[in-house]
Amino acid sequence: MRIAVIGSGYVGLVSAACFAEIGHDVISVDNDANKISALERGEVPIHERFLAELLQRHHGFRLRFSTSVAHAVKASDAIFITVGTPQSATGEADLSFVEAVAQEIASAICTRKVVIEKSTVPVRTCEFLRKSLLFNGAKSELFSVASNPEFLREGTAVTDFLYPDRIVIGADDEFSTSMLRQIYAPLASGSYYSCADTIPFSGRAFTKARAIITNAKSAELIKHASNAFLAMKISFINAVANISESVGADITEVCEGIGADSRIGPRFLNAGIGYGGSCFPKDVQAFQAVANQCGYDFALLTEVMRINTDQQKRFLAKIRSALWTLRGKKLAVLGLAFKGDTDDIRESPAIAVIQALLKEGAHVRAYDPAAIARTRHMHPQTAIEYADDAYDAATGCDALLILTEWNEFAKLDLGRIRSLLKYPVVIDGRNLYENNQMTEAGLIYYSIGRSVGVPAKMLPIVNNTNLDPQLHIPDSTREAAPVSY
Ligand code: UDX
Repeated sequence: MRIAVIGSGYVGLVSAACFAEIGHDVISVDNDANKISALERGEVPIHERFLAELLQRHHGFRLRFSTSVAHAVKASDAIFITVGTPQSATGEADLSFVEAVAQEIASAICTRKVVIEKSTVPVRTCEFLRKSLLFNGAKSELFSVASNPEFLREGTAVTDFLYPDRIVIGADDEFSTSMLRQIYAPLASGSYYSCADTIPFSGRAFTKARAIITNAKSAELIKHASNAFLAMKISFINAVANISESVGADITEVCEGIGADSRIGPRFLNAGIGYGGSCFPKDVQAFQAVANQCGYDFALLTEVMRINTDQQKRFLAKIRSALWTLRGKKLAVLGLAFKGDTDDIRESPAIAVIQALLKEGAHVRAYDPAAIARTRHMHPQTAIEYADDAYDAATGCDALLILTEWNEFAKLDLGRIRSLLKYPVVIDGRNLYENNQMTEAGLIYYSIGRSVGVPAKMLPIVNNTNLDPQLHIPDSTREAAPVSY
């Protein structure tokens, strides 16, 4: 199949590379000539596992790059739209990039095409897309529209594409359904998985991907509802973590117990400093805007967002409670990206926490395995000092904060960290350690939804650390008080 992918951001570039990997001839298009030139030179603009390998494997053979929508449309049977749908001032998705691309596609359609919306868009976008193509001169008999939402997580986007939980094909006509079925046939039939040099997948055995065929509106709704549900799961567990901390329970144990129920499942139950990224914050808000337009007050989503914002405030209160005052304190920060395995800092809780700390007069010395260059570029005015690694960050600092769940931050030499820090304090917003690991290394360990770990010989030091009565953060350094009846 000949495929055009319009928009070479995270979703577009990964999709284009993966379509080539499963055997299609692909043109990846972007209106940023610098980006296309860099791709032509073999540069990989994002930190994404296996992407460089796929680009190298297919560039110049089944994968080409172009800045011309018209050229790509003429040379293709299926056109995927993967341009950005940023948040507008009112919280709705701004679809102006989608519309601009639709106008360009319309004027280039001369033979039968399927135009497929892959970006995250509100329900009914396919309807508008069809209208826009018609208004801009495409003949109705020469195109169909369809929705094929992506469920790619940054960091694992390539394997999410090639080994998906499901492929959602939302189409209102047989032509589009059959075209999309053919495109995904190597995954749905399982033929890709028996090839010799497939991208490896660690985890469950994989034989075939499941295709779910729906109408276009259902597919659009599946995408928004999935992201809103996952965000709700994170906010829910963060709320439970706050109770857990108050009563002296351990959120990790609580999650193990909850997640063992197969109706709930263990994934996306990691308590922390809240969700971030380019999808959840924007999509939850956009989904709520969709609900409002339908006359439905989706108040549950307001609460999901409130808990998420509150989680950062609570973390800041925890830092204050551990360090007393922040002005002039020097803090080592591990993590800038919104999660591990990516260099993306969009809506990163780590950046929000750092900005609040700087505002309170603290000095920040930060390290991230991938996101330093992007942070320097996007926040040139922010007074962060950058370190070469975790130990360099910790050197001479008053405390160490863990803000992103990178694997390497879970494997630190804690004895070395202890020797480098001025005060023996670690405040972990991602629960990467058990209390005893830290206390055995002589460190006082604050985490989320659990009691504070204090080395035995230091117990008297931290017996009255709480603090912000408005946030009701208890003094969890003390043993839970016995309950009297
Ligand atoms: C998400 C969806 O998972 C994906 O299906 C969709 O296509 C795009 O949006 P992504 O934004 O890459 O993917 O990241 P994800 O792994 O979902 O994490 C989102 C945020 O939630 C991160 O900030 C992460 O740290 C946080 N998170 C995730 C938690 O706080 N706890 C968890 O248990 C899981």
